[in-house]
Amino acid sequence: MSGRPSASRRTVLRGAALTPVAGLGLAACSGGSGGGTPATPTAPVVLGAGSEVSKGGAELYLEHNVVVSRAEDGSLKAFSSVCTHAGCAINELRGTTLVCPCHGSEFDAGTGKVLRAPATVPLPELSVEEKNGDIVAGPAA
Ligand code: FES
Repeated sequence: MSGRPSASRRTVLRGAALTPVAGLGLAACSGGSGGGTPATPTAPVVLGAGSEVSKGGAELYLEHNVVVSRAEDGSLKAFSSVCTHAGCAINELRGTTLVCPCHGSEFDAGTGKVLRAPATVPLPELSVEEKNGDIVAGPAA
């Protein structure tokens, strides 16, 4: 006999009412201080001394959202360090593996390739050169 349909309906309503609150919390959290999404250089920018990136190593330049790696032959590669999953700024470099703080995606700093989901798209490659001992990176060539 007789369940109480009104009870279950109330539960559903309460769940719906909570949804916007959770959404607001997320928005406030991801807003950050800069007030925009992280961006990579739109013009050539000096990142630091070339000696900072050793052969087989990598360096993450947080303020420019760029990661630079150096191959064993001494050549440099630069990639955007803005995660291709949902656009978070990657802030951790373990050896030559970039780790996104948002959902744990990992990328190879030497190739830009995805090493761990949820990201599926590799990091975009940027132009990079060594000028007078400094590393200069810019938009994709
Ligand atoms: S934004 Fe980087 S893993 Fe989701």
